[in-house]
Amino acid sequence: MDLILGIETSCDETAASVVADGCEVRSNVVSSQIAKHSLYGGVVPEIAAREHLNAIELVVDTALKNANCAINDISAVAVTNGPGLIPALLVGVNFAKGISAGHKIPLIGINHFIAHIYGSFLENGMERLKQPETYPILSLVVSGGHTALVLITADGTAKIVGTTLDDAAGEAFDKAAKLLNLGYPGGPVIEKTAKKGNPAKFAFPRSLTGTSGRALEKKDRFNFSFSGVKTSLYYHCKNAGGNENIKGELLYDTVASYQEAIVDVLTRKTAEAAEHFNAPTVVLCGGVACNGLLRERMKSVLPAKHQLVISHPKFCTDNAAMIAGLACHYYREKRFDSHSLDAYSRMSELSSVVFV
Ligand code: KG4
Ligand code: ZN
Repeated sequence: MDLILGIETSCDETAASVVADGCEVRSNVVSSQIAKHSLYGGVVPEIAAREHLNAIELVVDTALKNANCAINDISAVAVTNGPGLIPALLVGVNFAKGISAGHKIPLIGINHFIAHIYGSFLENGMERLKQPETYPILSLVVSGGHTALVLITADGTAKIVGTTLDDAAGEAFDKAAKLLNLGYPGGPVIEKTAKKGNPAKFAFPRSLTGTSGRALEKKDRFNFSFSGVKTSLYYHCKNAGGNENIKGELLYDTVASYQEAIVDVLTRKTAEAAEHFNAPTVVLCGGVACNGLLRERMKSVLPAKHQLVISHPKFCTDNAAMIAGLACHYYREKRFDSHSLDAYSRMSELSSVVFV
């Protein structure tokens, strides 16, 4: 049995997990720093790094304890080394290097983005990944840091076929909540508030969908842009005489319409891309995939010929089970990293991934 310890510190969650054979989650510990960042309405990298440093030892120890194992039982240590916030990533990377060197076990650096996709299959029909007819897999990875459509073919080639040209969808939720003084993170509170409103009340823009009267360029067919909807909300508040006037029914209708615009673009583009790439499997993952409207709408807009895999909510937001699970396949292929493993902030070339 291959037992992998995974560590995740790319943003504001310190997480550790032990996963057996790439699929059996033995423990999944997540310590959130949300309270520390909510004061600032967003994640402050230096604060994130300090908090990771405070939490990481206990989080890793708890993950081992909950899995009923000792560090000597572990086959390899895996860690997210990008993309993410560099000061935050370095805490996890250096901690993992220490474990690898001290206990003489392999070190495996994992791409956070690909891990989100892999994590969608945890406790959710993992055996599908072994079947050739599952591929190509089209994934919408939608979080606070990213919004992208990724195509993974049966040979493990991963390609970003669409990405955001500016803000991520999660960022659009977070910034809207900040503007409307609803707190941080924005996604959950906007979803809750939107339930009371009319989503058809205001027509917020759907950028890069060809609905603005301007022709959509071919290169942007599967790209996203959320800065326009955010700016539109700003002027919506200004026209109401200031954000303090957006309350009660007006607030409910505003956030319902705002959420509707974002969900509409995400689902429409994903369905179009699934058709274009003839993808039998479509995956929805990342923090924003917790959103109930997005989950339901994706089910209704996607034709039945595409099998929809929606990440379990506990694996949508940042966690280390997805890191440890994916790393098992790298371990079996002996794709180890040296102790000079570096952290990177931006999406690097995905090229090839090892999924099975
Ligand atoms: O994947 P994640 O935990 O961290 C990143 O890698 O960014 O995603 C966090 C993002 C935040 O922007 C948060 O507002 C959003 O996911 N989010 C949601 C919901 N729950 C979390 N967005 C919309 N609706 C939700 N229910
Ligand atoms: Zn994430």
